[in-house]
Amino acid sequence: MEFVLSTESVLKLKADILVVGMFKGLKYSGALKTLNDGLKGALANLAEEEGFKGDIGKSVMLSRTFGKIAAKRVLLVGLGEESEFTHNTLRKVGVLAVKKIKNISSVAVFSAEFSSGTGYVSALSEGLLLGSYEFKKYKTQNSDESKIKKITSKKIKAKVFAEEIEFAKLIAESTNLARDLVNEPPVYLTPSKLAEIASQVAKEGGLKCKIYDYAEIEKRGMNGLMAVSSGSEEPPRFIHLTYEPQKKTRKSIAVVGKGITFDSGGLCLKPPDSMRTMKMDMGGSAVVLGVMKAIAQLKPQVRVHGLIASSENMTGGKAYKPDDVINAYNGKTIEVINTDAEGRVVLSDALSYAVELKVDEIVDLATLTGACMVGLGSYTAGVMGNDQKLIDKIRKASDSVGEKTWQLPMDDELRAEIDSNVADIKNAGSRMGGAITAAMFLENFVGEVPWAHIDIAGPAFMEKDSSYSPKGGTGFGVRTIIKYLTGK
Ligand code: BES
Ligand code: MN
Ligand code: ZN
Repeated sequence: MEFVLSTESVLKLKADILVVGMFKGLKYSGALKTLNDGLKGALANLAEEEGFKGDIGKSVMLSRTFGKIAAKRVLLVGLGEESEFTHNTLRKVGVLAVKKIKNISSVAVFSAEFSSGTGYVSALSEGLLLGSYEFKKYKTQNSDESKIKKITSKKIKAKVFAEEIEFAKLIAESTNLARDLVNEPPVYLTPSKLAEIASQVAKEGGLKCKIYDYAEIEKRGMNGLMAVSSGSEEPPRFIHLTYEPQKKTRKSIAVVGKGITFDSGGLCLKPPDSMRTMKMDMGGSAVVLGVMKAIAQLKPQVRVHGLIASSENMTGGKAYKPDDVINAYNGKTIEVINTDAEGRVVLSDALSYAVELKVDEIVDLATLTGACMVGLGSYTAGVMGNDQKLIDKIRKASDSVGEKTWQLPMDDELRAEIDSNVADIKNAGSRMGGAITAAMFLENFVGEVPWAHIDIAGPAFMEKDSSYSPKGGTGFGVRTIIKYLTGK
């Protein structure tokens, strides 16, 4: 997709389709008035007939302009209440518009008269790019790439425009990398393949990269990862990427991802319906790679460690078993109650490893619990942790990029559910409060380091299109973490 800045009048813009936004309450002013007047009121008439009032998520299409203006069609999209207008409005509008115009336009022009604030062109084009994502690798008949899109605005300088487009492209590429990884079938995306891709990301971005193979993982005593991978023919990988800022810094943050490339449940086997889509169980690790790709370009003034514990969870003859006890990397012992609670077991190693790096903060992302989806629905991630300030910052970052998160409480009474008779902790409690007990399990491995845990089980993968993403892998979390790390 190519973006061009144009300053021509809306009446003279040549396009297969012209997209204009309208705030709620049918206010025909500015470019919209010029356009409606040029069309002899046809736009207002159509809106009236169709009951279009400018609500967000709604749109109407004027499919003929009879030569009255240069554009062949007009799509009028709702921007909602003017007082509630934010960058997120534009992102959603971008996603919606690109869906509507996908099959008709070779040249679409977006009138961005309404978008004169900083970051608005970015937000709109980010929406267009995120909305036009398709995973086509395994389609033998490929449909066409979407073509040129233009954005027109009289209010923006060419240099600012170029910068905003460049930023949007980077954000979309990073998000789409995460989506691609989630969408890849598990036969392709094994832990070793994930590690290969990670080293490619590192190479392209000039990041340091360490990959630990089976022997190294065993030698280091990453026994959680060893245990979970023991039922699989595919060897595990531990991945450590580092972004080093140009100026020396003391501050460092670890971003940790769960990288289960397929979760069958292990010996506590999932029923078929729950097993399907479990290729997405590396969603957290996909976010880590998307984020590392972006910050290599955005260059924030903080050291960032991207850590991934990757394994399959299978049922082979050597598979770890309920009743097993694992000696975790930080010396604690874990009683295995349920082999399907494998994410927290592999994360125990990754979190302890982050503590060893003496980082100032840890943020982990994991498709960790079905319970989180029961609690919050599929569109919202759960945020938990041991540091309210950090949690607040993550929540704020997610709000500003339009990724929905909500905090769940840690609970001292509930913690008793993971007390074990034979070891320090159990890897699973009862079904009640399952997202929280999972987080309280993880808390055992972060020491005193400020830590936030984001359970993305719901929003990492969508069975149908959602407001920022076509169905499948969503890349949820990439934009939040980039925002958090860079402020951009
Ligand atoms: N990967 C799953 C969680 C999950 C479920 C993610 C649905 C996305 C969609 C995780 O490993 C798991 O199986 N969790 C169990 C934990 C239980 C056994 C304590 C769960 O949520 O049922
Ligand atoms: Mn599981
Ligand atoms: Zn899992």
